[in-house]
Amino acid sequence: MADITAYKPYYSVLILAFFCSLLVGSAAVGLRPLQEKNQQQDRKKNILIAAGLYDSTRTVADLFGNIETRIVDLKSGTFVSVDTVSPEGFDQLKAALSEELGRPLTKAEDIAGIRGIERYSRVYLVTDNDTVRRVILPIRGKGLWSTLYGYIAIEGDMSTVSGISFYEHGETPGLGGEIENRRWQSGWQGKKIYNQSNEEALVVGQKKGQEEAIHHVDGLSGATLTIQGVDDIITFWFGEHGFKPFLTRLRENGGRIDG
Ligand SMILES: Cc1cc2nc3c(=O)[nH]c(=O)nc-3n(C[C@H](O)[C@H](O)[C@H](O)COP(=O)(O)O)c2cc1C
Repeated sequence: MADITAYKPYYSVLILAFFCSLLVGSAAVGLRPLQEKNQQQDRKKNILIAAGLYDSTRTVADLFGNIETRIVDLKSGTFVSVDTVSPEGFDQLKAALSEELGRPLTKAEDIAGIRGIERYSRVYLVTDNDTVRRVILPIRGKGLWSTLYGYIAIEGDMSTVSGISFYEHGETPGLGGEIENRRWQSGWQGKKIYNQSNEEALVVGQKKGQEEAIHHVDGLSGATLTIQGVDDIITFWFGEHGFKPFLTRLRENGGRIDG
């Protein structure tokens, strides 16, 4: 008959492993709400950074009080009521890939490599007397290794960039990861997205022709491929499938929300 006592050490290892996995599992589940809260806080901070409103001496919640979150129908460029889509709980990334709230992009359309486009998008507004002074837009798309997620803030003329920030990506630190570099980001300030004919004209990195300085943002050395992605992201999100209908409409309304 086999000697059961010979297996004793293995039992204790198994029991220990079981309790450890239980501990790790419950910690992961228990910490999820906190992680989500921190993620939301980080996104708000990045919205404020893009808008040029971030101030480290004040709380994000306090500063965010100056920003209004609205939902826009990307195709028509109109604001959508909270009864149609409430900004709270609206999962924009999920919507992009759903049948109900998004549609797949064709290869020719999908310049930014995002596969699907949502019908509705969140936009963040800085207003004054019901007139939009600054609008902050969520942008995303493929870099070299990963999808880059960020915000870009546009002045009341609906073309001039006031700031950009990236809050999530998997590019190489020191190379593509330099898209987080505040000095590089400050080079976006004052650049114009659209030309006189309302065509998307901003080029990031390698010039494609004789772009004027106002329509050109310098690239980053050692990050040519990531920067190519950023250029594609701008082309897509300020084009017909992105925010162009919304920005054009708002400009024609003189920035008035109710128009
Ligand atoms: C380990 C490794 C990581 C890299 N990470 C990036 C990156 O995040 N973004 C990028 O554009 N290129 C990355 N590259 C590619 C090179 O840096 C490539 O030479 C660069 O894109 C060319 O840019 P340059 O013409 O500005 O030097 C990486 C290369 C290696 C070997």
